[in-house]
Amino acid sequence: MSTQDMPHLAPYTVRERHHVGEHVWEIWISTDEAILAALKPGMFVDVAVPGDPRHLVRIPLSYYDMDLHRSYLKLYVVNVGEGTKRFCHQKVGSGATLIGPLGHGWELPKDTEHPALLVAGGSGAAPIYAAARMFVTGGIDCDVVMGAQSGTRFWHEGAAQLATLDSSADVQVFPATDDGSYGFHGFPTQLMERLVEKKIYGSVLCCGPNSLMGGVATIAAREHIPCQVSLERVMACGFGACNTCSVAMKDGSVASCCQDGPVFDAEEVEW
Ligand SMILES: Cc1cc2nc3c(=O)[nH]c(=O)nc-3n(C[C@H](O)[C@H](O)[C@H](O)COP(=O)(O)OP(=O)(O)OC[C@H]3O[C@@H](n4cnc5c(N)ncnc54)[C@H](O)[C@@H]3O)c2cc1C
Ligand code: FES
Repeated sequence: MSTQDMPHLAPYTVRERHHVGEHVWEIWISTDEAILAALKPGMFVDVAVPGDPRHLVRIPLSYYDMDLHRSYLKLYVVNVGEGTKRFCHQKVGSGATLIGPLGHGWELPKDTEHPALLVAGGSGAAPIYAAARMFVTGGIDCDVVMGAQSGTRFWHEGAAQLATLDSSADVQVFPATDDGSYGFHGFPTQLMERLVEKKIYGSVLCCGPNSLMGGVATIAAREHIPCQVSLERVMACGFGACNTCSVAMKDGSVASCCQDGPVFDAEEVEW
């Protein structure tokens, strides 16, 4: 890793905010070009959100896309608590600092002949979007299951952008909602069961709630498909200093989600 690729602190400014669903926002920020250049799909930044001096902890956020001409990082943020709520309502032109690039991102699969199956739930759509872009750029077709609680919380813009990516490989998006108000009625795992019955996949990627990732990992293992998961843990520092983000591994060891992950081989994680 060159010194330029090392995680460092940089200022950021909010450039655009788009309300794209109930409690869901796209936030485009400008920041340090060296961080943008070093970020790979699946990696993340740790964002400080001003407005509450009691809130010392930064918010880990994956990016879904970049605009290198304007040095913009595009974030997809689900408002789930105090920090994300303040970030989603931060004024255009305001900002603070972030730390990046952090973590290890997605690996390109060994099997590039068969399509990849990408499964996202909720805020997991951000790193899955970035993975789909990386895979189709590498010539790998992708089927993307995008799950949300309801149609009003579904990331319609993201799904539409993915389906029209300009590349030699194909992306097909399969929406799923828990309440059936948009797309398939049911959990992404149920839709995944149907897809793996019909098609041979060379790899599976998943990001979302832990229960979803555990379910997807179980189906992938049963079907003998290599599976990567991007785990979410509460993170106090984001760079290996605090031990708050532990991940129990099958071999009995404990990994740190922020430094060893967030992307892991699903077979190595103790679910
Ligand atoms: C590597 C990584 C990448 C992430 N990428 C994104 C992203 O692109 N978009 C996005 O919307 N969210 C993402 N998250 C989740 C996001 O960081 C949390 O939702 C956020 O930190 C919650 O902060 P808060 O102050 O709003 O919530 P709090 O008020 O602190 O908590 C609200 C709820 O969220 C849970 N929570 C708190 N921190 C986390 C966390 N780090 N991971 C999971 N749940 C948490 C709490 O247990 C609680 O149930 C990511 C998390 C990780 C670890
Ligand atoms: S968040 Fe501090 S060690 Fe991972």
